[in-house]
Amino acid sequence: MFSVRCSMLKAALPINLALPPFVEAVLGSYFDGKWDKSFQNRIARDVAELSFLFTRGKLESLRGGHYMARKRFRDAYICYYLPANLLKTVFLLEKAWDSTNSWHEKKEFSILDAGCGPGTAGIGTAIFFQSKALEQGWKQFKLRIHSLDSSPEILKENFQLTRNFSHALQKGFPGLVVDQHLHHANLSEGWKALPPALRQNSLDALFFSNVLAEMGAEELPLRKTGENKNPASHEEQGNRGLVHFVHKALLPTGLAFFLEPAQRTYARRLLSLRDTFAEDSNFQILSPCPNILKCPALNLSEKDWCHDRIQWERPGFIASIDRLAGISKESLKFTHLMVSLGTPKENHGDLHRFVVVSEPMKGKGKFMIFLCGVEGRFRFELLKRDLSESNRGFCRLRRGDKIFLSGFTLKNEIKRLDQDSVVRLEL
Ligand SMILES: C[S@@+](CC[C@H](N)C(=O)[O-])C[C@H]1O[C@@H](n2cnc3c(N)ncnc32)[C@H](O)[C@@H]1O
Repeated sequence: MFSVRCSMLKAALPINLALPPFVEAVLGSYFDGKWDKSFQNRIARDVAELSFLFTRGKLESLRGGHYMARKRFRDAYICYYLPANLLKTVFLLEKAWDSTNSWHEKKEFSILDAGCGPGTAGIGTAIFFQSKALEQGWKQFKLRIHSLDSSPEILKENFQLTRNFSHALQKGFPGLVVDQHLHHANLSEGWKALPPALRQNSLDALFFSNVLAEMGAEELPLRKTGENKNPASHEEQGNRGLVHFVHKALLPTGLAFFLEPAQRTYARRLLSLRDTFAEDSNFQILSPCPNILKCPALNLSEKDWCHDRIQWERPGFIASIDRLAGISKESLKFTHLMVSLGTPKENHGDLHRFVVVSEPMKGKGKFMIFLCGVEGRFRFELLKRDLSESNRGFCRLRRGDKIFLSGFTLKNEIKRLDQDSVVRLEL
């Protein structure tokens, strides 16, 4: 049951996210305004093929992003996946903005978009900071984007798209400067794939967006741990390689974002990476579940996993592709991991901190909900007759909320609150 819809994120920000209107215009002009019936049919056919590849295809067909060498797949990706993934980036950046003060005064920002494809994370970051600049009344903002990919063909498209999006953003905010650097490199080489100039803790943010899914565990950047009686598994070594990569690249105030498809294999892969970051004293987990050292989903059953789902205003052109391709992007689903460097850990192992992982439920005379904490996932309930000032918040919990909860007893695998229980929402 954990496997289904264990949501990690609170859809705290705009409940209904929408793409800025210029996104469709920029994409339209990128394809020379060819958005007619036959173009849509072609794109939908290729999206259907890509979707099959992403969800049911063999890793060999995805490995190293070779599919990006084909123009028709690049076009399909740009039309269909880029817009949705842009919004996921903006959503996570908004969440990060709330977690870190060190970004609030920054007028220059450097990122690495690793496995950048058409430029999703870079363009998403430009959109995010343009809106922050307008909101905060900044005069200037300089964004340096390092875009890294193993496909030279998609890097070329990325360069043009980033230019086009930057121009559109500059119309609303002329003080925006976007400085892009392209890096043709293979992430299988681990931190050696990092351009030398980026190996010295210079980045504010690092994005791995939908790229780990295209690298098998054996292809992840390995990091040997020396003599060890119990040698680490390939996955663990790969995780340590990624932690090392991030450690070399990020500024002390930097954040790393990992975003993967909402599929069990990739979600569990990310949860295992989460646990490796959690064990490393240089890092703090910002999301999901910052207070938990070991994710309980990984040890209960192979079937357990977690993902996020946010509502968006699906644009008309995506709805048309959905209809023609027989798939659906009515909501945005993904899994994510957000870590920061250099912030002291807090509340680790705290038995009173939980994340809401189900919808609230009402029974005869009681409220119920599933919460995930240090000891695992449990059903919690509060009898209506025990409602009090201090526990009333229990009835208002929503999936993804992070809470402090004290005062409960275990009764037949169910944790029950009483009148003295305290329930408090945490940011
Ligand atoms: C699914 S796309 C993701 C693009 C973009 N980050 C996004 O989220 O929309 C995966 C990208 O990763 C790139 N890629 C796959 N394996 C790679 C590797 N070993 N090194 C560098 N890039 C890789 C592919 O070429 C492709 O552009």
